[in-house]
Amino acid sequence: MIKRVDHIAIAVSDLDAALKTLKDLFGVEAVHIEEIPAQKVRVGFVPIGDTKLELVQPTSEDAGTAKFIATRGEGLHHIALGTDDVAGSLKKAEEGGARLIDKEPRPGAHGARVGFVHPKSTFGVMIELVEGPE
Ligand code: CO
Repeated sequence: MIKRVDHIAIAVSDLDAALKTLKDLFGVEAVHIEEIPAQKVRVGFVPIGDTKLELVQPTSEDAGTAKFIATRGEGLHHIALGTDDVAGSLKKAEEGGARLIDKEPRPGAHGARVGFVHPKSTFGVMIELVEGPE
């Protein structure tokens, strides 16, 4: 079952510069910075109320995020919905007609199980399903 908006992710070309901008403009700061080799990204999480901003910087030119920035520029990359069952939520989305990027859950930030739904199925905005302790 979907329970919350876990985070909203923005693709950026320079994570450190972007984190500084958020701090300068809004006084909010990252509590967690992590490299996720499987996705070829470095991410910073900035908690805001019940949810978080995730800033995603590609660490390789062949990362999906690098292609995203090359074609669309920096910007809204995905919205993550928290669920108590990623595999079940992926299955439900597929049964509902969604094109999945991940047929099975894979490891994401914080060691959480995640799975992505293709943005073509969801109004141009990629949806991440995330299962985690929070
Ligand atoms: Co995310």
